Amino acid sequence: MSFIKWHPVLYSINVTEFDEHHKKLVELINVFHKNMMEGKGIDVLDKVFTELKNYTKYHFQAEEKRMQSIGYPDYESHKEEHEKLINSLEELSEKASQGEKFVTIETFKFLKDWLFTHISKVDKKMGDYIIENS
Ligand SMILES: [Fe+2]
Ligand SMILES: [Fe+2]
Repeated sequence: MSFIKWHPVLYSINVTEFDEHHKKLVELINVFHKNMMEGKGIDVLDKVFTELKNYTKYHFQAEEKRMQSIGYPDYESHKEEHEKLINSLEELSEKASQGEKFVTIETFKFLKDWLFTHISKVDKKMGDYIIENS
């Protein structure tokens, strides 16, 4: 069973491009979780985590580009949230490279909470603005 199930009512922001990105993020977190549950080694986990981190960066850049192009008023605070999340992901990578056990329940709780709150609040607000202004 998947760790996070895509839930359209909770997650959809009604902007197809970003909904697809968010689905991919859910999928990557689920792959990461599955590998951990199967007891895969740190090299495998690190590879999946790097993929998740890189995809997150790609996705954030896409959102930021869109917000800028439509003159989104909350651009700065939204971008700041993205930066905080990237920093947290970098910190986790750092711990992993130092051999610390980084794949813990807290890691998953953090990833899941992040998806829930950022997408359903901050991204949703941006999505509403995109719909109203396009
Ligand atoms: Fe966002
Ligand atoms: Fe997003």
